Amino acid sequence: MANDNQNLEKLTAAKAAIAFVKNNDVVGLGTGSTATLAIKELAKLIKDGLKITGVPSSEATKKLAISLGIPLLELGKVRSIDVSIDGADEFTKELNLIKGGGGALFREKIMASLSKKTIIVTDGSKLVEKLGAFKVPIEVNPNAEKYVMIKLKKLKGKPVKRIENGKIFITDNQNYIFDTDFGLIDDPEKLAYELNQIDGVLGHGIFVNLTDIIFMAKGDYITSYHK
Ligand code: 5RP
Repeated sequence: MANDNQNLEKLTAAKAAIAFVKNNDVVGLGTGSTATLAIKELAKLIKDGLKITGVPSSEATKKLAISLGIPLLELGKVRSIDVSIDGADEFTKELNLIKGGGGALFREKIMASLSKKTIIVTDGSKLVEKLGAFKVPIEVNPNAEKYVMIKLKKLKGKPVKRIENGKIFITDNQNYIFDTDFGLIDDPEKLAYELNQIDGVLGHGIFVNLTDIIFMAKGDYITSYHK
């Protein structure tokens, strides 16, 4: 559970990212607690007259955006997003990320790939030297469950099917998540490539070459990491 300081850091980072949103922008709306704070800040600006169209990265974010009165377009229908704002579970100074703690990694990656500018917002706990302490979320079609398990073990991964509140976690795309321990990851780009080759893997939480700016707030300080 996030404490008060962490929540304040998340809000500080979210506010820094919001400053990049311009009138008439198509804005990618991330998923998770930090992205939620950014979306709520955006909704305040909309009430003050800012015109934007949001593109949600999950059903939860879609519901939130609708409740806040943010006009929306479906992710699958947009050709380009001006700026997207999302959180991360881990990041390095090289702007590599692990995402998918909330299970929304597939749509989040499509959103980032469509975005002219992808901004990641985090509290001070997400910066790491090497990715991998956070297990890599991998979205798997249920028909490929055993096949993908075998393939991940060949890559020296230890996959565990995600359970939430005593039930198998099912993504917005009706798939499973395998939280997979690869140890500390020396070459995230190589692992991302290898995971992309496995039939039955819809997506995975290693994001390389997809981020433009990361705002991390720690205590009273905010640090930005750029390309
Ligand atoms: C959801 C994500 C989130 O962005 C990530 O889990 C970070 O969440 P939070 O801002 O709550 O720490 O990737 O799939």
